[in-house]
Amino acid sequence: MEYRVFDSASDASDYCADAMIALLNDRIRKGYSPAVAVSGGNTPKLLFETLLRKYGDTFDWTKAHFFWVDERCVPTENPESNYGAAADILFGKIAIPTGNLHRISGEADPETGAALYTEELLGFFNPGSQIPVFDLVLLGMGDDGHTASIFPGNMELLSSDRICDSSSHPVTGQKRITLTGTVINNASQVWFLVTGRGKAPVIKEIFNRSGNWMNYPASFIVPVNGNLFWILDAEASGELTD
Ligand code: 6PG
Repeated sequence: MEYRVFDSASDASDYCADAMIALLNDRIRKGYSPAVAVSGGNTPKLLFETLLRKYGDTFDWTKAHFFWVDERCVPTENPESNYGAAADILFGKIAIPTGNLHRISGEADPETGAALYTEELLGFFNPGSQIPVFDLVLLGMGDDGHTASIFPGNMELLSSDRICDSSSHPVTGQKRITLTGTVINNASQVWFLVTGRGKAPVIKEIFNRSGNWMNYPASFIVPVNGNLFWILDAEASGELTD
């Protein structure tokens, strides 16, 4: 498993920000308009803060497109909204055209939101019915091994014939809309940014293919042609050496 461990969540986010901007600039230099799908939850908030601080005024945000890996089915002003949090921390504070931000309609009912996002994805990546190829998909991981909004009870979403679907959080029942594993595994680069001691036991099982690894959706993020890379802090990687 390709991974790097950093002393702190801050160092991990710093590295992730630098690596992301380097990747995007490389694609832009080659004449592409790179597309990134970012996750929600808490971990990326530090990354978004770092991107603003280090690259808010220096990166050409007009050249890159940002999508969401998943969304909670709430309006953007709801504190639970992944788009809302990212906009508050980063996207609302930089010179990025609204047309470069492709949010999921969390305010709609899940089926409608999923259909609208599917339409947006297919319209952007190609007019055909191909599977979108993201330049980068940035994932987090829950301490139950979920990723995106693909939870242990929704393993079928990993190889769905749909590119986007709805799901429900197993504990709160919160409705979600998520990219399927079909799209995630079709990306050129898939990076996990995982920090905190709570994730260490699952990281160990996934990396060692031991214990309950088969029950974790994150275990099955295996890019078809792309590259998989884990960016961890010392706490999240704490059991790897045990
Ligand atoms: C979400 C995320 C989800 C997240 C994990 C980890 O909408 O919550 O997309 O997949 O990455 O739940 O969340 P934390 O970063 O808050 O631990």
